[in-house]
Amino acid sequence: MDTPGTSTIVILDFGSQYTQLIARRIREFNVFSVVLPCTAPLAEVLALHPKGIILSGGPSSVYDANAPQADPAILDCGLPILGICYGLQFITHHLGGKVVPGAAREYGHAEVTVTDPSEIFHGLPSKLEVWMSHGDHAEQLAPGFRITAKTSNAVAAIANEARSIWAVQFHPEVAHTKHGMALLKNFAVTICRCKQDWTPEHFIATTVARIREQVGPTGHAICGLSGGVDSSVAAVLVARAIGDRLTCIFVNNGVLRKDEFATVQKTMRDELHLNVVAVDAGERFLTKLAGVTDPETKRKIIGNEFIAVFDDEAKTILEAEKSSSASAGEEVAWLVQGTLYPDVIESASVHGPSHVIKSHHNVGGLPADMKLKLIEPLRDLFKDEVRRIGRDLKMPQAILDRQPFPGPGLAVRILGEVTPERVAILQEADAICTAEIRRAGLYSKVWQSFAVLLPIKTVGVMGDQRTYAYTCAIRAVESEDGMTADWAPLPYEVLRAISSRIVSEVRGINRVVYDITSKPPGTIEWE
Ligand code: XMP
Repeated sequence: MDTPGTSTIVILDFGSQYTQLIARRIREFNVFSVVLPCTAPLAEVLALHPKGIILSGGPSSVYDANAPQADPAILDCGLPILGICYGLQFITHHLGGKVVPGAAREYGHAEVTVTDPSEIFHGLPSKLEVWMSHGDHAEQLAPGFRITAKTSNAVAAIANEARSIWAVQFHPEVAHTKHGMALLKNFAVTICRCKQDWTPEHFIATTVARIREQVGPTGHAICGLSGGVDSSVAAVLVARAIGDRLTCIFVNNGVLRKDEFATVQKTMRDELHLNVVAVDAGERFLTKLAGVTDPETKRKIIGNEFIAVFDDEAKTILEAEKSSSASAGEEVAWLVQGTLYPDVIESASVHGPSHVIKSHHNVGGLPADMKLKLIEPLRDLFKDEVRRIGRDLKMPQAILDRQPFPGPGLAVRILGEVTPERVAILQEADAICTAEIRRAGLYSKVWQSFAVLLPIKTVGVMGDQRTYAYTCAIRAVESEDGMTADWAPLPYEVLRAISSRIVSEVRGINRVVYDITSKPPGTIEWE
């Protein structure tokens, strides 16, 4: 990760659920920030030339046998340090103070009084509403530290300007903490003197220049497109750098949404001016899926088949490029992937990747016998930042606003066996659901909204005819990141329009139900 000319704040992750949020808040005022596991060696931290270090919160006590450990030498590295929650206790514990266990861990709103204004509270009111996390508390401060803020019964902030160390017991990164952003800005901009230049233009310019340099004047790259935001933005960035030497592969896996194979191709070619090879492999996928009902088996089949199709195409493209290329010698080819920062942090986190509930497949498997090197232009970005970059690249709003769509597509929304007939039925129902949600202006307000086809037939009556047809469930959820979600309270009129249109327009469905399950305990997709 390198961002020429940009000031960086390193956040050491002690396992708090809010660590990524600290990074996002800091980036919101255009300062670049990076999350590293707390176990990162000091040399790795310093190699990023940070202007300051933040020690995150964490669920442990400094006395826990398996408490996450950071190299205490970090505290002596001379850079400004801000400890948050566990970070405050880590600082106190390692610099000679005393942390005592609290009887119980408590979270919640608290009022903090600033008793001794330090730079970190500059411009903030003397009474702050904060999101506090009481667990252990600092009973005795480390030498040279003083209390700068208190709650009615505990230390809320400490400082030691001589050592350039500040710490707060509350969470400035959480929205419930009013003025939390101002506090983080005081640290990053005033104290650490970070330049606020990590803007979309800066990101685009440096990323394009770096890709151009990596790939060189004759190299080629391939990219799997899904039609979604991440792969499209990644492809556009790479195309800016190397133009037609990027070939995008878009595969019809037979379980795309209605008309999607055609519309995505059109957008990618006509609006994004990408060099696209479209592979219509729908039949091949559906043949493999015949008779399969187990969700994970469906995912595996689609994932493996995708890699097989992609590899075949990639090989053909790269062979053709090689034989037409005038350049001599061994050509290195590149594979573009739309990996995002949360995936990068997740795989390097203190506790390892979280438990896999469903196996997710990413677009673009790495062909084993080809010499492909990875380009991951978005690996420093959060999802909302990808959208910001997409806007700056002047990409169509329709792509940037697109709701997430799973790699295995409609296959995990057709419960039971996936047949061509069922795919066609669900495509129609899904198109109506999406059209009505859009018409109500809700498409980009909800996280996802879609139809699910249940393999259950129920009795109905239409005109004078008795019907016996499938049931369709509508799912709409609100979410920040897809990790947790609430079912969306869609207006009755919208539900009514979706239901009556599906039943009257989609042959094969005679009943519509609405899913009112949150995640957890439910998941967003039904399979
Ligand atoms: P769940 O159903 O696990 O979904 O609550 C969380 C988010 O992940 C998406 N999802 C997938 N994406 N391959 C993907 O690329 C998959 O197999 C897959 N399964 C779920 C889901 O749409 C939601 O946004």
